[in-house]
Amino acid sequence: MDIKKLQHGEWSSSFAFILAATGSAVGLGNIWKFPYITGENGGGAFVIVYLLCVGLMGVPIMMAEIMMGHRGKQNPVDTMNTLLKEAGADKSWHYLGWMGIVAGFLILSYYSVIAGWALAYVVKAFTGSFSGSGSAEIKELFDNFIASPVQLIFWHTLFMLATMLIVARGINNGLEKAVRFLMPGLFVLLILLVGYAMTMTSYAQGIYFLFNPDFSKLTFNSVLTAMGHAFFTLSLGMGAIMVYGSYLPSDVSIAKTSILIAVADTVVALLAGIIVFPIVFSNGLHPDSGPGLIFQTLPIAFGNMTGGWLFGILFFVMLVFAALSSSISLIEPAVAWLVENQRMSREKACIWAGLTAWLLGFATIFSFNIGSGIKIFDRNFFQLLDYLTANLMLPIGGFFIAVFAGWIMQHQHSEQELKMPDRQSYRIWKFLVCYVSPAAVFLIFLHVVGVL
Ligand code: PHE
Repeated sequence: MDIKKLQHGEWSSSFAFILAATGSAVGLGNIWKFPYITGENGGGAFVIVYLLCVGLMGVPIMMAEIMMGHRGKQNPVDTMNTLLKEAGADKSWHYLGWMGIVAGFLILSYYSVIAGWALAYVVKAFTGSFSGSGSAEIKELFDNFIASPVQLIFWHTLFMLATMLIVARGINNGLEKAVRFLMPGLFVLLILLVGYAMTMTSYAQGIYFLFNPDFSKLTFNSVLTAMGHAFFTLSLGMGAIMVYGSYLPSDVSIAKTSILIAVADTVVALLAGIIVFPIVFSNGLHPDSGPGLIFQTLPIAFGNMTGGWLFGILFFVMLVFAALSSSISLIEPAVAWLVENQRMSREKACIWAGLTAWLLGFATIFSFNIGSGIKIFDRNFFQLLDYLTANLMLPIGGFFIAVFAGWIMQHQHSEQELKMPDRQSYRIWKFLVCYVSPAAVFLIFLHVVGVL
């Protein structure tokens, strides 16, 4: 084995891997993004397309990504280099690793800004800013907050520093322990909030919006957004799960783990939707309010329910931790590459990678205030970045991962890595990555560029 592979760590147990991968998947994507894009894309029909994408593309591609990472045992670029040599494939396959690293940076730059909002809301909850407030006051609070670049920069900086610190210290040392308590905590709190949502006058209307499919509201762009979100929420298509898979101990069932992660991730997103939409309709708000949706709805609940002060603090603290366990996986491919390929120390690699994403984050910050008038292709910078990464780069990355795992990698190798309980399940997986997932991504892209 070469030195690069020996430098590479391993998760302390299979449980630690499952925790970390679930931590990567469950994050702002589930609680912040899913409700607002569902709101913007008309509800139920969008949710169905998203669920189909999770099942038909998400799970098989997650298995492929973990399996490839486990076989290559390095950062995405060098993993691809190892695998392409083993398979005798064309050298250009290693660009797939590169695209992942770039996508990770781009996503992290705006992810940290939004996670900064959650951080600021911990303080707002603590100081009682929501108490007794109605929807108008909560909206004003949010609008004033995002209008201030200085405040947004402050919280973005704090979050990015936390991410860099955790990654520099190695993942096993603190975060693993924190996530162990906070993830179940988040889950319990969501269930409690569902209980609260059920008491609202428009609970039924909220549920109807979320689960009743009205396909007339579905545009091709909604389909693209739903597919992109399936990749985003499962952390797929950019090498994050591939790097995590490279630290995977050999006794883990890749298939079972992938299904488990996908189910947990989906449940959290649906719970968030079940909470948010009844609040939206009961307070005369609009489901298509955009990225501020959870910040304009949940505080109303916290401001008016018994124990709301404490629940509000706990909720935003947990949201920040869920975001942290995702942000570290966004930066890890780049850090692993700098350490393994450029022989940089882990600390230095974190500083470089973090600093670059931090600076880029300013563009997102300004697109909510002083630069909101600047539009490229009809989108502000944040929207453009989100579209480029989630809707284009991740599905393209996922497409090539599926093609590589299904068509390029040798049959024996993928079978040996996946260790499926029987031949039949292996064949189903193979069919999905060879045909179903790539064809689905391809067809959706064809529609979007107007060929079909
Ligand atoms: N899955 C994370 C979330 O839902 C975001 C993420 C995307 C993390 C891509 C890693 C890679 O918040």
